[in-house]
Amino acid sequence: MGNNFPLESNQKLLSLISALLEVENSSMETKLTKICVLLKKENKTYDWVGFYFSNHDTKTLHLKAFAGSPTDHNTIPFGKGICGQVAVSNKNFVVDDVSSQENYIACDINVKSEIVVPILVNQTNIGQIDIDSNTINAFNQKDVLLLEQVNNLVGNYILSNNISINIT
Ligand code: SME
Repeated sequence: MGNNFPLESNQKLLSLISALLEVENSSMETKLTKICVLLKKENKTYDWVGFYFSNHDTKTLHLKAFAGSPTDHNTIPFGKGICGQVAVSNKNFVVDDVSSQENYIACDINVKSEIVVPILVNQTNIGQIDIDSNTINAFNQKDVLLLEQVNNLVGNYILSNNISINIT
């Protein structure tokens, strides 16, 4: 299953995301929220989309923007859950069936599958995009590719504009 849009649709989505990042007089959190809303709207199986950012001093992840139901898990220690494991591994993590995972934090009982892709800036993992789906096996390589490209845009924007995200 997974992202069933042709690659040219992904290109349109990425152009829209680039434009959202360039909107003036809009905070970084607002830009990220708009990206979450857009990704959720454009893909039926994306039921919750959020960006967590890493605090490397406290070794915790902090939710900075999302679309979907509010979660209690605004702060996640490195190593805990799928997100916390990606904060340590710096690698994409696709979970076809969350019930198969022992180190998993349930945000919503309806969630069946999840994908987490890190945001790498100069080889440092500054955060991640996390997507939950109420459909089992919802994510494939096309989703990985799309989300890597989204995170490249976000990471490059943060780097080139010297943005510091308030990670508390
Ligand atoms: N399921 C995630 C926690 C974050 S929520 O999905 C919003 C995890 O196991 O890290």
